[in-house]
Amino acid sequence: MQTVLVTGGTGYIGSHTAVELIETGYKVVIVDNLSNSQADVIDGIESITGVRPAFEQFDLCDREKTMALFKHYKIDAIIHFAAHKAVGESVDKPLEYYHNNINSLIYLLEAMKKYGTSSIVFSSSCTVYGQPDQLPVTENAPIKKALSPYGNTKQIAEEIIEDTLHATQGLKAIALRYFNPVGAHPSAAIGELPLGVPQNLVPFVTQTAAGLREKLRVFGSDYNTPDGTAIRDYIYVVDLAKAHVISVKRMLDNQNKKDFEIFNLGTGTGSSVLEIIHAFEKATGKKLNYELVARREGDIEKVWADTRYANNELGWTADTPLEQTLATAWAWEKKIRNIN
Ligand code: UD1
Repeated sequence: MQTVLVTGGTGYIGSHTAVELIETGYKVVIVDNLSNSQADVIDGIESITGVRPAFEQFDLCDREKTMALFKHYKIDAIIHFAAHKAVGESVDKPLEYYHNNINSLIYLLEAMKKYGTSSIVFSSSCTVYGQPDQLPVTENAPIKKALSPYGNTKQIAEEIIEDTLHATQGLKAIALRYFNPVGAHPSAAIGELPLGVPQNLVPFVTQTAAGLREKLRVFGSDYNTPDGTAIRDYIYVVDLAKAHVISVKRMLDNQNKKDFEIFNLGTGTGSSVLEIIHAFEKATGKKLNYELVARREGDIEKVWADTRYANNELGWTADTPLEQTLATAWAWEKKIRNIN
């Protein structure tokens, strides 16, 4: 049985990926410092899969502990999710973001070299494209100057990986550039758990429907889009998680075509904020209280993925319909708020 280290494995995307890895037959070791997640997510993973993943609670910026982990477990591949991810907070605390997101990656790469772990999947973001000149955006689109320190950590991390692979025989990596992950596991045993007021659209939608928020503010209705609201490519988190398992297997089976490969993970279809609201209402029968307000600083107008490269190379498609995805987000919100 091959062992996959999932950093940030109690987080939103990490926990869904841990489930898919276990269900595919991998042994999973989770490292998380619980800075933005809770230990009982491990129970959720166990309740879905019947297998309890190994869990080590520490900070990957602790180099000694990271090295000790690799000494203790024989790790075949890494999926590196652990990172700070709040765009606004990164503008206020840039050094925290650079320290946390960059050092953890450097220590993991050092540990790979020292302990002979060949493969790493890196959580990247479509944020590296900024507002693309052409849509849908392909992996070859130019990287634009990052709009936030958070976005910059994703760009720098991709470069650090590329330089390290160039200098090191036997290492390989796949960077996955996510569009907007949404929804929860169909069991409602795991899902997204934002701390405090959600910054992202779908958690704000579900919390508004649950009565935790009075109304949803739609940021910007004067964009150059059909209904004036901004467009994103919303991808079901379970579809996204499956692409990680395929990426790990691709490298461990030596199916990768280059040492460093990059894939867009999206559906290929853009949805406006108003379309999300209406799809949610249709999927759940809940009416949403919302108002149109000014644009949010730093937001781009529209982005959606050209997914052909991922579809063809990985043999993977994100095909869960949007309404079904939003229904899982609502089922999860209802479960954690004890709503019938
Ligand atoms: C944001 C980050 C992105 C990051 C991702 C991680 C910015 C500019 N981008 O993506 O870098 O990788 O989160 O999760 O912050 N919206 C509303 N009302 C709300 C919340 C959002 O109208 O209360 C709108 C936004 O203006 C946007 C869309 O919904 O048009 C999606 O927003 P969000 O979920 O925050 O994702 P991004 O901004 O695309």
